[in-house]
Amino acid sequence: MVDRAARGAVFTPEPIGRALVAAALSGRPRPPRSVADPAAGDGRLLAAARRALDDVELYAADVDGAAWRRGPGGSLGSARFLETDVLVAPAPLWSDLPAGADLVIGNPPFLDQLDARSALDAAAREGLRRRYGDVVAGYTDLASLFLVAACEMAAEDGRVALIMPASFLSARDAEPARRRVLELGTLDGIWWGGDGIFEDADVQVCALVLDRSGPRRRHVRRWVGPRWHPVDPLDVDGDALRLAPSWGPLVAGLIDEDLPQVALASDAVLGDVAAVGAGFRDQFYGLAPLVTDIGGDPSGRTDGRAPLVTSGLVDPGRVGWGRRPARIAGRTWTTPGIDPADLPDGRLARWVAAQRRPKVVVASQTPVVEPVADPTGEWVPSTPVLSVHPGTASLWRCLAVLLAPPVSAWARAHAAGSALTSRAIRVSAPLLRAVPLPPDERAWSRAATVLERSHRGDGSPPDAVVEAATTMTAAYGCDPEADVWWRSRAGRLSPP
Ligand SMILES: C[S@@+](CC[C@H](N)C(=O)[O-])C[C@H]1O[C@@H](n2cnc3c(N)ncnc32)[C@H](O)[C@@H]1O
Repeated sequence: MVDRAARGAVFTPEPIGRALVAAALSGRPRPPRSVADPAAGDGRLLAAARRALDDVELYAADVDGAAWRRGPGGSLGSARFLETDVLVAPAPLWSDLPAGADLVIGNPPFLDQLDARSALDAAAREGLRRRYGDVVAGYTDLASLFLVAACEMAAEDGRVALIMPASFLSARDAEPARRRVLELGTLDGIWWGGDGIFEDADVQVCALVLDRSGPRRRHVRRWVGPRWHPVDPLDVDGDALRLAPSWGPLVAGLIDEDLPQVALASDAVLGDVAAVGAGFRDQFYGLAPLVTDIGGDPSGRTDGRAPLVTSGLVDPGRVGWGRRPARIAGRTWTTPGIDPADLPDGRLARWVAAQRRPKVVVASQTPVVEPVADPTGEWVPSTPVLSVHPGTASLWRCLAVLLAPPVSAWARAHAAGSALTSRAIRVSAPLLRAVPLPPDERAWSRAATVLERSHRGDGSPPDAVVEAATTMTAAYGCDPEADVWWRSRAGRLSPP
């Protein structure tokens, strides 16, 4: 039998399966006569569909026939079961369902391509690329391909209801899949399950209900939490959503009820005026064995050694280096750093040298965007800390943009679903490059001046950060409620 992790086999809790079936059946002119589950596992979702429907034909497939026969599937008498790899099997999957199923439901495997246990080999990836084209991007989770396959399996007037990893909503590698499913159908409903839905899988989940046909513009139904509590629907234009970079804004207000709605429309973005960069695993694992406690101050060093700045050390406008401990590769340090002279020549040395310029460093997995300036260019960011090197915009202007409460609200909405927990933002280089710039140049300059003066010792840094943040809310033309929200999330604005 194939290992469970390699198959992404995490079975759906009974009440979640029932709610998924109920959401899939509601709002339709007639009940489906055929229901298919292409990743049927032990058959529990089809068993729930059978209980909800009087007269229905059931179709199932899974690579694991034993699970189906042992579970509720084994007692579903007339259900047609195929033991096959659905992603590569020829269409139509079930020969007696040539026009597709009225309803395709499922909880496809979540096979994280960054996880060595579930990552595909190059040949398998190439096969999927031939079949699904550009939907197979760098680290595409296979759940995205299942969603595309499920849409193709549904009849022309059919429906699809699938549980999905929440990262599908905003991950960059899922963008081609999001576009493809909105070419094949229209979003009709979305459930935000969040964390803790599956006991044996630490993953945030959502569910999508899509119709193959029907009006393109509609009120998308929404539900939240383990009990599928219904919330206000959203008016969504399917064609506009197809072109949108993220579906995160559809659920952002369900994850953080106080999140201010901000519309940051601008042609110019941070990536036009600054270079945003991120280290990868190679940099992290390359530097980890070289870390020592280097002592001293984080800026203005003369001994050539470089302070290493972790996400945990970054607060909005301040760095806690030397004031509180940092964890790096399982060890705790009080003044972590490296000596660039210890670096072997090559890529890592070049990467470290390129970091040692004036920049803004930005933490990841934080409740708001947390940037701090390194005007002397001493620090080395410890992955996943990002760096923003000023280009045509000054260092202080870059810092002001990243401290802006509306930018944090925007980032929260756009990255919804991608972070490790639903309370955090996964700040990535593409996200930062796409941050819209503020329309009010003068207010932006004022905020930058406040930050620069405070750096020169004029005024208390926490006050300067709050003043700059408030000024930037005005620079974006947003309501002051964004400041209130930001201050309640920003955490440590004062020392240490
Ligand atoms: C997350 S489980 C869901 C099972 C069940 N539908 C439920 O909701 O409890 C995903 C299932 O997909 C199956 N699977 C993984 N890769 C597959 C593939 N390429 N083709 C068909 N099934 C696959 C696994 O064996 C597993 O049973």
